[in-house]
Amino acid sequence: MWKQFFVIFTYFHCVKSLPQVITVPADNHLSTKQGTLSPRDTISIGSCKIVINKLCPDPDVTFYLYSKKHPEQPEGVRIGADPGVSNLTATAFNPALPTKIIIHGYNSDMYLNVLIEIKKQYFLKTQDLNIFFVDWASLAAGPCYPAAVWNTKHVGECTAQLVERIREFGNEDIHLVGFSLGGQLTNFVANTLRPYQVPRITGLDPAGPGFLTVSPENKLDKGDAQFVDVLHTNAFIQGTVEESGHVDFYLNGGVIQPGCWAENRFFACNHHRAPIYFAESITTKLGFWGWPCPSYGDYLFGRCPPKEPQIIMGESINATSRGVHLVITDSVSPFAVGKFTGPAIEIYLKSEKHRLNILRKYRKQVMSYIDEDDVVEALQQHSKSKNANRRILYPDFENITEIYDFI
Ligand SMILES: *[C@@H]1O[C@H](CO)[C@@H](O)[C@H](O)[C@H]1NC(C)=O
Ligand SMILES: *[C@@H]1O[C@H](CO)[C@@H](O)[C@H](O)[C@H]1NC(C)=O
Ligand SMILES: *[C@@H]1O[C@H](CO)[C@@H](O)[C@H](O)[C@H]1NC(C)=O
Repeated sequence: MWKQFFVIFTYFHCVKSLPQVITVPADNHLSTKQGTLSPRDTISIGSCKIVINKLCPDPDVTFYLYSKKHPEQPEGVRIGADPGVSNLTATAFNPALPTKIIIHGYNSDMYLNVLIEIKKQYFLKTQDLNIFFVDWASLAAGPCYPAAVWNTKHVGECTAQLVERIREFGNEDIHLVGFSLGGQLTNFVANTLRPYQVPRITGLDPAGPGFLTVSPENKLDKGDAQFVDVLHTNAFIQGTVEESGHVDFYLNGGVIQPGCWAENRFFACNHHRAPIYFAESITTKLGFWGWPCPSYGDYLFGRCPPKEPQIIMGESINATSRGVHLVITDSVSPFAVGKFTGPAIEIYLKSEKHRLNILRKYRKQVMSYIDEDDVVEALQQHSKSKNANRRILYPDFENITEIYDFI
């Protein structure tokens, strides 16, 4: 329901501000430096650009390389469609080093501060790296969310060419990091590269609106890389609540981040915490540690107190990690609180506080997400326990407060 509302809302926004003309630009045939023709059809509806003929390379999808040699001013990178066609050898690209490819989301560009922070933290670590940024800002522009969603497939295909050109140098340590719509976009990079799989994709609060009901070929999932790890910080709202990787971390309950109420830009704050936590994970000494939970639904039902084994989240994750994990952070930077030792009562109370908050503030979303059978099962289990005879067995499904009291 909420997601339909979101899409309708953004559509409305879009349509309201449109002139009544649709223009198809004349630059359908662009000659590239290789001399090959690259026809591209773009429909512009007001400020919304919708790519129809999805051919790459595309001047609206550009690549930049940061390296120890160029840590502040990235080098532009030219990527061609054909094998061997690029100017990577003229850049500081070093095939012997690990490669990161960072992809921004909707209404943003590659210079989004929380993404630049990731780059900064990588370079604070002593090792050198190839850090590519994909810039598709003109195809991701607000207020046209549906157009940006549509364009992710095309941008994914163009980014796949970057991966192909990199691999031609024998570089195999390739890690895609996508934030928000960029997280879902990595799915289309993966689809284009099949049967090859990149070793790792990290989804940073992959976008929710527009992706909840679509099939796995159209959104990030664990089939998209040898290892897919996902951080959820604004589930139900800007991010997806769905488990999307081999391992999914729900930070502070996954919806509302501590400290975000204090900031003016509340809407972006929760969502942007995913890249902020990830950036911190690169250099943190304490580390973000998560404890296992069978599913996010189980968390909502209060079935996931802190327990062992704890696993580390973020850059240094062990690629054998699997399943849903819950993480608690501080409300200000540095956010990592390290591993819990002994009785984790404080962590448990924080986790419960977040859970109650979610149930209170987003009960409609929660109810449309969780399975009613699951609710019934939880209630039956509860009724079998000793103190259960105080209440009726059949709750009003509309009333999450009541259900919460019950479980
Ligand atoms: C590689 O090509 C890009 C795009 O044409 C250009 O901006 C950049 O300067 C080139 N890099 C080098 C090192 O020649
Ligand atoms: C990753 O986890 C596996 C299984 O728990 C373990 O055997 C392995 O040593 C770990 N790898 C690293 C690098 O910690
Ligand atoms: C939900 O349950 C609470 C506690 O039983 C009750 O006070 C409240 O009126 C109920 N709300 C609705 C919408 O039924």
